[in-house]
Amino acid sequence: MLTNSRLVSCGWITSAAFVFSMIKAVGGDCAGAVSLFEDGALPPKPAMYSHKTLADDHLAKIIKELPENPFMADQAGIRLSLAGAQEKLPVSLKDNKIGISMNGAPSSHILKTPIKDLHGTVENETFCMMLARRMGLLVPDVKIIKINEIPLYIIDRYDRKIENGQIIRLIQEDFCQALNVNAQLKYTPTLDVCFSLIRNESAVQIKDTKRFLQLVVFNGLIGNSDAHAKNISFIHGENGTILAPFYDLLSTYVYPYAKKMAMKVGGGRHFQFLEPKHFERFSKDTLIKYKIVKETIVTMADKIVGEAKNTTEEFFDLYGKSPVLNEINDVIKNSSKEKLKFFS
Ligand SMILES: Nc1ncnc2c1ncn2[C@@H]1O[C@H](COP(=O)(O)OP(=O)(O)OP(=O)(O)O)[C@@H](O)[C@H]1O
Ligand SMILES: [Mg+2]
Repeated sequence: MLTNSRLVSCGWITSAAFVFSMIKAVGGDCAGAVSLFEDGALPPKPAMYSHKTLADDHLAKIIKELPENPFMADQAGIRLSLAGAQEKLPVSLKDNKIGISMNGAPSSHILKTPIKDLHGTVENETFCMMLARRMGLLVPDVKIIKINEIPLYIIDRYDRKIENGQIIRLIQEDFCQALNVNAQLKYTPTLDVCFSLIRNESAVQIKDTKRFLQLVVFNGLIGNSDAHAKNISFIHGENGTILAPFYDLLSTYVYPYAKKMAMKVGGGRHFQFLEPKHFERFSKDTLIKYKIVKETIVTMADKIVGEAKNTTEEFFDLYGKSPVLNEINDVIKNSSKEKLKFFS
C-alpha cells in the first residue's frame, strides 16, 4: 500500500491519515482482484475499458516524476496502486509499447524503475527471475524495455488471466495479509510460520511446500536478503488456494547494505555461513525431513552455476552486457561451493 507519508509528501492530499482519501486516490486497480469505487459508483463494464499508449518522452517524464507523484495519482481518472518500497507502475503492453489501462481496465504488467544509488537493479532482478525459471521455479515472464536510455523492468501480472479475450483480475493475498500481520511488520513472520501457513491453507500443500523450500534455497544461493512476508503470495482461484508465482527476486548481496536474510534459516541470517546444524534446525522448525532439505540444497547448488552461466549468455544476447551480472555470478559461485562442500 502506498504509505501515508509519501502521499503527504505529494502535497495534494491534506488528510492522508484518512484511509478513504488514499483509496479514493489510488484504489481503482490494486493487487489482486480489488477495485474500490466511491459509494454509488458502479465498476465500469469491460466494454468501456480502454488503453492509452504512452509516447516515450511522456513515459520518461512520468518515470522521472514517480517519486513525487506515485502511481501518476495526480492525473484525473488514474487510480492505481501496489505495495512495496520501490517505485513502480501498473501498466499494460500493446505491441510491446507501454501504456496505461483506463476506464476500469485491469493492468496486465508491472513496471519497476532503476533504484537510485544502487547499480543495475533492473538488470539484477531481470536476470534473477530468468535464472529462477531455468532452475525450475514458477515465475512470470519478465523483460527489459528501454525508454530514452532508461532500462525498465517489466513483469507479467500473475494476478490476471485472459478469459474470452478479456483480462480478468484474480484474488491474491500476500503472506502478511494471510497471517494478519501489518505491512509495517513484514520482516517479522518466520520461515516456520510461513511453512505452516502453506500447510494449513494450500490446496496442494505438498507441492507448495516443495516450491517454497526451493525458493528459500534459491534466495540463499543468489543472495536475496529481502525475502520478507510480503514477497510471497497466495492466489485464491477456482482450484482453491495455491502459492502464486514468485516475484521480487534479486541478488541484494551485491549491494553493500543487504547481507542479512529477512528470515532466519535454522537460526542463521547469513546463507553463506550456514552449516548442516542450521539446516538440521531448519528441518525441525519447519517439519520438513532433513533428507529432503539436504537433497534440495545439493541439487540446486549443483545446478545453479551452470544455469547462471546460460542465463548470463541469454541475457547478454537480449540486452547486452551488464557488469552487475558478473557480481551475481560470483555470489552464486561462492554460495554454491560452500554448500556443496558440506553436503557432497
Ligand atoms: N508479477 C506480479 N503480478 C501480480 N502482483 C505482483 C507482481 N509482482 C509484484 N506484485 C505485487 O506487488 C507488490 C510489490 O511488488 P514487489 O515486491 O516486486 O515490489 P518492491 O517494491 O520491490 O517490494 P519490496 O518492498 O519488497 O522491495 C507485491 O507484494 C505483490 O502484491
Ligand atoms: Mg516486494
